[in-house]
Amino acid sequence: MTPRTFPAWRIGIGADDAGYSYKETIKLDLEASPLVDAVRDFGVAADGHDAYGLVAANVGEAIRAGEFDRGLLICGTGLGMAIAANKIPDIRAAAAHDSFSVERLVKSNNAQILCLGQRVLGIELARRLVAEWLTYRFDPTSASAAKVAVISAYEGRLAAGAPGRQACG
Ligand code: RB5
Repeated sequence: MTPRTFPAWRIGIGADDAGYSYKETIKLDLEASPLVDAVRDFGVAADGHDAYGLVAANVGEAIRAGEFDRGLLICGTGLGMAIAANKIPDIRAAAAHDSFSVERLVKSNNAQILCLGQRVLGIELARRLVAEWLTYRFDPTSASAAKVAVISAYEGRLAAGAPGRQACG
């Protein structure tokens, strides 16, 4: 997965039925943002009932394939989406419901996917957090890069069939 030089973000957005309404509202914000190049809606549709795990896998796989830079996944809590998205190699995702966590999700963790819970936070806070999220960029020369690389190295060991555990301390 090679990072792109951005004019602006290409974003995949998805939700289950518990996050549908926020997805629709925030999708309009993304489409209107000068920081966003393209938005693709991975569902669910208004009458859709796909489980969060299915939507998260589709968005995460599209990011892994380089079709999108970032994902925004919304379910009831944001937790199921994050759990499912993190099953995809190279993908880092978390629910973040406050400004500082959203900033660090990008700047410390180089996460591609922000997950939100429609049943946890109000729509205006959700919109604001997404607007802030668009302004953050990971710095590959920062001290955080080596820490994220530890996660990638673990994934690499597993993919190679090598033991995942390593001595620490
Ligand atoms: C509803 O299915 C709810 O469980 C789901 O949206 C999500 O909150 C799971 O983490």
